[in-house]
Formats: sequence, structure tokens, C-alpha cells
Amino acid sequence: MSIKTATLNGVATIEIARPEKKNALTQAMYQAMADAINAAQEDGSVRALLITGQPGIFTSGNDIEDFMQRPPQSIDSPVFRFMQALVASDKPVVAAVTGAAIGIGTTLLLHCDFVYVSDESRLAMPFVSLGLVPEFASSVLVPGLMGQRRAAEKLLLGDPFTGEQAVECGLANAVLPATEVVAHARRVAERFNALPPSAVRDSKRLMRGPHREQVLATIAAEAELFGQRLRSPEAMEAFQAFFQKRQPDFSKFE
Ligand code: COA
Repeated sequence: MSIKTATLNGVATIEIARPEKKNALTQAMYQAMADAINAAQEDGSVRALLITGQPGIFTSGNDIEDFMQRPPQSIDSPVFRFMQALVASDKPVVAAVTGAAIGIGTTLLLHCDFVYVSDESRLAMPFVSLGLVPEFASSVLVPGLMGQRRAAEKLLLGDPFTGEQAVECGLANAVLPATEVVAHARRVAERFNALPPSAVRDSKRLMRGPHREQVLATIAAEAELFGQRLRSPEAMEAFQAFFQKRQPDFSKFE
């Protein structure tokens, strides 16, 4: 299992642990994360969640082999169950990002309440470069967060950005030295042990609740196009180029 979960001192930790594939996420891993978030929601002893990766890599995003061989079949697929579980979480979610956060590695941060990145973090949403479209409601949330200009750089051009830039554009709370990110994020999560839990949950519902329906509707609309694009010749060219370690050639497409 490449997702490790543990609950310690009121914090349910979800650790992505598949370093040999740069923490690329498979359907089984999405399901494990969805189950962990749903279990934390029901567990009265859990005051906050912490999502983290490995030193030097948060996640390289969806497993590209999975994209080719086992694309999500419907909105009930594990990847969408994971998205729905994170959107529905009433408990505070803290993300600790060291190294690269690509694709859903960046878009999932939009749904966390606190995001800490490292001075060597590299974030990117290269959906278009892969022949795809944005997911996890990023098509609406990213322009809303940072404005259309900066969103276009990140979503249409797929430009990578640093941890510092993530803070500047409102995606992250703070940049820390890589060795301190997880400990700092855990300390923030543990602060909820000293706060009244139902006031926290009610407040998060007030902050997120009015947007949840729109977020879920956007996820569903994106999923429709994303599913079509996964089967497109443009995406096939991009995926093959990744595994052949070459630049994709889109010159023949119109
Ligand atoms: N899906 C499947 N396999 C992946 C992967 C992914 N998203 N990301 C990395 N891997 C695999 C590589 O194929 C390689 O496997 P191999 O050892 O069998 O050849 C291994 O993980 C190491 O990756 P590598 O690219 O050699 O590491 P790197 O340090 O040079 O680069 C990244 C790290 C994250 C920058 C790079 O792997 C990358 O860009 N990954 C793809 C990101 C992406 O486009 N994700 C989809 C977003 S929608």
C-alpha cells in the first residue's frame, strides 16, 4: 500500500509513500485517501488532518500509466471519490509540501485549509501540456484565487512555480526550509486539540459550505471533458513522450 495512515495526538495523517514513482497516484491510492478522509470525518478523536508526501516529493500527480491503461470510468471512480471526500471534510486539513507537487498535487491544495511549502517546492498544473483540461475545480478556483492573468500562465501554459510564488498568489500560507515543513504543519494541525471541535467544524462549514455545490458541479463538468481528452490523440502523444523521455510533438494536430 502506497498510502500510509496514522492517527496520533488528534491528527489523522495521510502520507503518500511511493517514492520510486515520485509518489504518482493510482486509483488504489485515491481510494485509500478517500477512505482515510471519510474515516477521519467520523472519528471523534480526530481534530485535524495532515496530508504529506516524502522528502523531496509531494506527488507527481496522477500515475500516467494509469491514465493510459485504467482511466476513470465515471464520477464514482476512486479519484472522484477522493475529490468529493476532501471537499466534504468538515475538519481542518493541513498540507505539508516538500519538493514537486504536480497536477492534482497542486489542485488538491485548493481544498486544504492550510498549506505549507518548502523553499525547494516546485508546483505545476500541466494539464494542457498533457492534452488534458484542468480538474478538481481548478478551472474556476485558480482564476478566482489569483486572477485570470496568473491563472492563464499556470493553467494554459502550465508554467511551474516556486513555493514562494505559491504564497504570493494565495495558494500557500508560508514557505519553510524543507526539513521543517512537516513538523510545522503538524504543529498547526495539533493546535486544533486546544480549540472547541464543533465550533471549528461549524466555522469551516460556513467558510466552505456555500461554495461546495458549485465546486462539486465544476468537478463533474471538468470530469466529462477530462474523460474525453484522456482518450484523445493529443493526450496519447503527451503520455508516450513522457515515457519515452522526449518532448511531445503536437505539430500535426489542428
Ligand atoms: N506517472 C507515472 N510514473 C511517473 C510519474 C507519473 N506521474 N512521475 C514520475 N514517474 C516515474 C518515472 O516514469 C520514472 O520511472 P522509471 O524509474 O521506471 O523510469 C520514476 O517515476 C522517476 O521519475 P523521473 O521523471 O525520472 O524523476 P525526475 O526527478 O527526473 O522528475 C518529476 C520528477 C516529478 C518532475 C517528473 O517525474 C515528472 O514530471 N512527472 C510527471 C508529472 C506529470 O505530468 N504528472 C501528471 C499531472 S496531470
